[in-house]
Amino acid sequence: MKVAVIGTNYLGAAHAAGMADFGHEVIGVEIDPRRVELLNAGRSTIFEEGLEPLLTKHTASGRLRFTTDYAEIADWADVHFVCVGTPQSDSGAADLSQVRAVVDTLGPLLTRPTVVAGKSTVPVGTAPALQARFDELAPGAGVEVVWNPEFLREAHAVTDTLRPDRIVLGARTPAALATMRDVYALPLSEGVPVVECDIATAELIKVAANAFLATKISFINAMAQMCQAAGGDVTLLADAIGYDRRIGREFLNAGLGFGGGCLPKDIAALSARATELGVHVLADFIGAVQSINDDQRREIADLAEASLGGDARGQRVAVLGAAFKPGTDDTRNSPALTVAELLAARGAHVTVFDPEASVESVPGVTASASVEECLSDADVVLHLTEWPLFRQLDPAALIELVRRPVLIDGRLKLDAAKWRSAGWSVIQPGRPALEG
Ligand code: UGA
Repeated sequence: MKVAVIGTNYLGAAHAAGMADFGHEVIGVEIDPRRVELLNAGRSTIFEEGLEPLLTKHTASGRLRFTTDYAEIADWADVHFVCVGTPQSDSGAADLSQVRAVVDTLGPLLTRPTVVAGKSTVPVGTAPALQARFDELAPGAGVEVVWNPEFLREAHAVTDTLRPDRIVLGARTPAALATMRDVYALPLSEGVPVVECDIATAELIKVAANAFLATKISFINAMAQMCQAAGGDVTLLADAIGYDRRIGREFLNAGLGFGGGCLPKDIAALSARATELGVHVLADFIGAVQSINDDQRREIADLAEASLGGDARGQRVAVLGAAFKPGTDDTRNSPALTVAELLAARGAHVTVFDPEASVESVPGVTASASVEECLSDADVVLHLTEWPLFRQLDPAALIELVRRPVLIDGRLKLDAAKWRSAGWSVIQPGRPALEG
């Protein structure tokens, strides 16, 4: 089939390469000419394992190319995927201006029947509005809007695209549904489950999934506070409840909480939409999830300040990690950087090391080129993004670099016994400070 993918950030780049891998002819559309040039050379514009080899493979095979020109895809494609961003606006609601711009650009160019498949995360009720706009801009062309939400995780974008847990297809007509089944014929033939539903359900499934993941994280962080108060161990608690298949161990890692370009903004948008529709119970529920998450960041900053004798001014704080999670260079809404900024605002000299992410734009925070440079003369060390390389560090060697050997493990992933036996004082919120 001929497939167009509009928007080539995390979602679109992986989706375009994945569609080519499923055997389709693919054109990706992107407004940024620099990015088009890189992608056409088979280069990824983000740090995402496996993406560049897939782009290289399919740009080389001729099955995948990128353009800035909508005229090349309009009547060419059987399916147009909309993969542009829906960032958070000041009110918390999703900003749909990029999605609307796609419809306004593509609509007038369409003259033959086509399916427009929304992948961007949108508030429920968006698709019918887009359908109405296409009907206005391309009357008689036969444009059919379907919703096909995406569940890929950054750092796993390629595997999640090629082997998704499920495919959700929300459509108004059997013909549009049949076209979407053809697009996904390969994964469907391999047994990937499919949920076929109405469009509103498809729009809601996506935000419900992210809200549930966020809820798991905030729940375990609230339990971590309970463990802290009562002297329990949240990691063992998570292991134990996670053995229950109805609960599951994934997304029960306590610590700094969730960040990134998706969970925080998607639950804020769901809350805003719930309020608009009068579903206050959902908005209140999400409010609790959000406030627990915000507290986690403040809590770690407070712990660091307390370890500095209650006054961060002029003291040196070393932060390990800047990305919102390991395996990505994405720092959008990064919990690690919030903590770094909070401490810088309280007067600390904050240095940050991350193996992939850049920290140039964070006020009051200096980027380090190595762990050693970062820890040099530190008064406290904070472990805030759990990159595997931080678990390989040698605490006995690092203790020589710092002014005071205090480690706050905000992700509960370091081997506290190893650090303690090397002479460090280790704080893992929600885990008891056992010696040895
Ligand atoms: C999330 C969802 O997991 C994807 O399914 C979804 O497609 C994507 O959003 C999206 O809407 O586009 P992602 O933003 O890549 O994916 O990140 P996650 O892996 O979900 O992690 C989110 C945050 O939760 C990270 O900051 C991570 O450190 C934190 N986290 C995760 C925890 O604090 N504890 C956990 O146990 C798991």
